[in-house]
Amino acid sequence: MLYLVRMPELEDTLSPALITEDLKTRFVGQRVIYRPTLTSTMEVARQEAKRGAAEGTIVVADEQTAGRGRLQRAWLSPRGNIALSVILRPEIKHLPSLTMLASLVVTRSIAAVTALKPRLKWPNDVLINGKKVCGILIESSVRADRVDYAIIGIGINVNLRLEDYPEILPIATSLSHELKKEVPRLSLIQNLLVEIEKLYLAISEGQSIFEEWRDSLVTLGKRVRVKSGDAFLYGIAESVTTDGSLLLRRPDGTLDKILAGDVTLQD
Ligand code: BTN
Repeated sequence: MLYLVRMPELEDTLSPALITEDLKTRFVGQRVIYRPTLTSTMEVARQEAKRGAAEGTIVVADEQTAGRGRLQRAWLSPRGNIALSVILRPEIKHLPSLTMLASLVVTRSIAAVTALKPRLKWPNDVLINGKKVCGILIESSVRADRVDYAIIGIGINVNLRLEDYPEILPIATSLSHELKKEVPRLSLIQNLLVEIEKLYLAISEGQSIFEEWRDSLVTLGKRVRVKSGDAFLYGIAESVTTDGSLLLRRPDGTLDKILAGDVTLQD
């Protein structure tokens, strides 16, 4: 008699067919470019977008050898994690909302698949128990007030063994570390794709996702240090504006509007 033994490691295999099977979206994730290893999904997505790839095309990899983070940093991207880029072609007025969209999509999907309760650190770091579990990078090309393409890059520490990376242990976590068990990447990816399409269609129809994003931020009301360019700014993160900027109340009482930067919570 022949028994079929399912190998646990095979259950987490990614492929275009597995990702698109029963995927409940109209266009996001309906075309999948999957590579076991590549430099950066952002790089491949950019080449595809320039060649006219359909909106919603995704690039997924098991491992990135030159993963990119915000502010020209490198992003650690070994096997077991999610490295995903999505090509979109939004109207220019919706471009600032993509940061909010991406971070909400990730918090919603992690909550749905794992029951963990992620929070956000401005602008779009996803935290669990105060440590970073996901980073988001948005790159876009705009020509003559028209968005040629926008790419949302999402990197989630899913089954990352933190013991293997002591250098990030103080600041980062992974889903498997929090849950003490492996997490299936496939269902998380499918969930992300459904949420991306849902929120993208919502903002395209003029709905606001600003309040949900603002209310998910752990940053507001806290004493922070903001690295903005080469400068370090200190103050209280008072609020955020609808374009996603941070309003920082300085010790001298002035209010600074910060478009991009890196926040460290001081308390
Ligand atoms: C950050 O600095 O927090 C942003 C990290 C973004 C990482 C993701 S992984 C998928 C995509 N490909 C990349 O090279 N970077 C993004």
